Amino acid sequence: MESTKFPTLGRRLFFRGTIAGLFLSLAFLRLMHSSYSNTRMFTIPNIIISKIPNRTELNHTNNVSGKTKSRYYLPTSDSSLSYSWVDNQWQPPPGVPLYTIQEMRRIFTQGNVLWIGDSTARQDYVTLYNMITSSSSTNDGDHYYSNLTVAQLNEGINVNKGGKITEICDRRYPFDLLLCRNIGNATVDKIVHYDYTEQICFREVFNYINTNWRLLMARYSTILVSVGIWDVIRFQYCGSQNATYVRDVLNVIDEKFSANGHVQLLWKVHCGAGNENASEMDRTGLIQQLTRDWFATHPPPKHSYNVVMIDLAKEMEGRTYGEARIAGDIPPHLGPTARMLFLQMATHAIAQQRGGP
Ligand SMILES: *[C@@H]1O[C@H](CO)[C@@H](O)[C@H](O)[C@H]1NC(C)=O
Ligand SMILES: *[C@@H]1O[C@H](CO)[C@@H](O)[C@H](O)[C@H]1NC(C)=O
Ligand SMILES: *[C@@H]1O[C@H](CO)[C@@H](O)[C@H](O)[C@H]1NC(C)=O
Ligand SMILES: *[C@@H]1O[C@H](CO)[C@@H](O)[C@H](O)[C@H]1NC(C)=O
Ligand SMILES: *[C@@H]1O[C@H](CO)[C@@H](O)[C@H](O)[C@H]1NC(C)=O
Ligand SMILES: *[C@@H]1O[C@H](CO)[C@@H](O)[C@H](O)[C@H]1NC(C)=O
Ligand SMILES: *[C@@H]1O[C@H](CO)[C@@H](O)[C@H](O)[C@H]1NC(C)=O
Repeated sequence: MESTKFPTLGRRLFFRGTIAGLFLSLAFLRLMHSSYSNTRMFTIPNIIISKIPNRTELNHTNNVSGKTKSRYYLPTSDSSLSYSWVDNQWQPPPGVPLYTIQEMRRIFTQGNVLWIGDSTARQDYVTLYNMITSSSSTNDGDHYYSNLTVAQLNEGINVNKGGKITEICDRRYPFDLLLCRNIGNATVDKIVHYDYTEQICFREVFNYINTNWRLLMARYSTILVSVGIWDVIRFQYCGSQNATYVRDVLNVIDEKFSANGHVQLLWKVHCGAGNENASEMDRTGLIQQLTRDWFATHPPPKHSYNVVMIDLAKEMEGRTYGEARIAGDIPPHLGPTARMLFLQMATHAIAQQRGGP
C-alpha cells in the first residue's frame, strides 16, 4: 500500500487557505488572547488537585444515567450530565471524575493505542503524550499535583505536519503510521505502542479500517478516531461525499469491531473549524447529527460496548464558533483546554468500559 503522504494540491491549498485565514483573523486572535490567558491560569499554577476516585466511585458513574454501560458515555440527552463551562474552563458533571494525569497514564498504558485521523487527531495524540510522559507531576498520597504548562501541552503538536517529516517512524509498516512512540513503564510493564496514522477524510478512514481491521485488532487495544473537518471545508478533496457517508464509515467500523469486544474504538463527534461559513456550519451540524442518530439507532450487540461515541461537539456547544471558540493555532484546531476535555471524556469512556481504572 502506497502510504507516503506528500502534500497534494488539495492539501497545499488547504494549508495556504489556513495560513491566509490566520493573517485575516489576526484581530480575532488578539481578541482570543485574553481567553488564552485564562487557559494559562488553569494550567500553570497548582492545577488539578483532586482526589483519585476509587473503584466504587467510578463504578457509580457507570450507572449515572440509570443505564449501565451504553454507547453514550457523555453526554446523554440529559443536560445535567454534560460538562459545564465556567469562563473558559470546563468542569465535569456530578459523578464524573476529573482524571489526573497519573490516572490517564495508567489507563492509556494498558495496551497499544492508535489514533486515526486528521491534524486534530495528531494534536490530541501529541497532547496526551505530553501529559502522560511529563515529569512535571507528582503524586502525594491520594493527592495529585501537576505543574504542566501550556507550552508543555502544546509542544510538538504539529510534528510531521504537511509531509515535512522530522520524526521518523521506524515501524511505519504495515500500519501506515505517521508517528509511532512508546509509552508505559519499562521497568514494571511491557512497552506500549502509541501510534498515529494520518487519514484525513471519511473515505480514507473507511478504506483504512476496511483494509487493515484484522491487523489493527491484533495489535491495538484502544483506537481513537478524529476526522470530519476536511469533509466539510475541503469536501471536494475528500471526494464530495454526501454527508450521509459518515454512516458508511460507522457501519464498517461496527461490522469489523463490534463482534470482537476486546478492542475499544472511540469515535469523536468532531467540532467544526472556526472559520466555517454558514453552509459549512450546516454541513458540520448535519454530520454531527447523523453520527448521533447512527449511535442512537445501533444499540450495541449484547455484551459489546466497545465502539462508542465521544460527543465532544455537544460539550463544546457555544465554544466552537465565534469569539467564544476555544481556538487553537489555526482555525480548524482547538486549543489545549478543549483537547484536554476530549482526553478526559475519552479516559472516562475507557475507564467505564473496563469497570474502573
Ligand atoms: C471509595 O469511595 C466511596 C464513596 O466515596 C467510599 O464510601 C469508600 O469508603 C471508598 N473506598 C476506599 C477503599 O477508599
Ligand atoms: C460495580 O457495581 C456492580 C453492581 O453494584 C458490582 O456487581 C460490581 O462488582 C462493581 N464493580 C466493581 C469493579 O466494583
Ligand atoms: C442504576 O440505576 C437504576 C435506575 O436509576 C437503579 O434502579 C439501579 O439500582 C442502579 N444500579 C446501581 C448498581 O446503582
Ligand atoms: C512549576 O514550573 C515552573 C516552570 O516550569 C517552575 O518555575 C516552578 O518552580 C514550578 N513550581 C513548582 C511548585 O514546582
Ligand atoms: C515505573 O515503575 C517504578 C516502580 O513502580 C517506579 O518507581 C517508577 O517511577 C515508574 N516510572 C514511571 C516513568 O512511571
Ligand atoms: C462556503 O464555503 C463553500 C466551500 O466549502 C463554498 O462552496 C460556498 O460558496 C461558501 N458559501 C458562502 C456563502 O460563502
Ligand atoms: C444523500 O444521500 C441520501 C441517501 O443516502 C439521499 O436521500 C439524499 O438526497 C442525498 N443528499 C444529497 C444532497 O445528495
